[in-house]
Amino acid sequence: MSRHLRLGVNIDHVATIRNARGGEHPDPVRAALAAADAGADGITAHLREDRRHITDDDIQRLMDRLTIPLNLEMAATEEMLEIALRHRPHAACIVPEKREERTTEGGLDAAGQHNHLAPFVARLSEANIRVSLFIEPDPRQIDAAIRLKAPVVEFHTGRYANLEGEAQTTELRRIADAAALAAKNGIEAHAGHGLTFENVVPVAAIPQLAELNIGHFLVGEAIFTGFESSVRRMRTLMDEARG
Ligand code: PXP
Repeated sequence: MSRHLRLGVNIDHVATIRNARGGEHPDPVRAALAAADAGADGITAHLREDRRHITDDDIQRLMDRLTIPLNLEMAATEEMLEIALRHRPHAACIVPEKREERTTEGGLDAAGQHNHLAPFVARLSEANIRVSLFIEPDPRQIDAAIRLKAPVVEFHTGRYANLEGEAQTTELRRIADAAALAAKNGIEAHAGHGLTFENVVPVAAIPQLAELNIGHFLVGEAIFTGFESSVRRMRTLMDEARG
């Protein structure tokens, strides 16, 4: 197991700020290149059905300009599948998506949606796109990912991020157990959502995790210290957690 924990930087909210004025600044592609310079191992972008942040043109420009892998977050819809197959990013993370939500509130119900998800996992995999399923750290969902033959799962850490004290420690254990179960079954384990300088270290210390995907906090922190500096600090905290 590699000691290096990959950092995927999610640039969605650079686009949120740009779109508030409808112009071109700040450009999420410029942020992606800055993140790469600051130690990001990959870039994550969520193309939502309503295009509220990342746009189709952003995906095209990211594919043209990035020299590190792009992880496209997408809902399991025919429209998104067609886009993924056209651009062929390194990875595609299938996420649940509700039009009315502010952010991705929970994991996919991979167990309940097996028949809907199976053709998406198969068609993306056939195109050599590394598929990941964004799920809760729950053995039932891991079993479903095994049945779906997904090579990667990403555990939703939103609950962990929102809890405190004993309850947070219990949730951390759930994530650690889930990562161990995934790894035992040959599935690469990632994690993300709501991670910050304050809460990242215990998650980064889980040895079976291969990658963390982090966005909103890094973009917010960039207001105070600059984007490269915020990515660099996250990189350092993750490296220190791996000792
Ligand atoms: N991973 C996935 C699958 C996501 O959908 C998101 C964004 O919602 C993140 C990670 C990053 O979460 P955050 O922006 O809270 O760091």
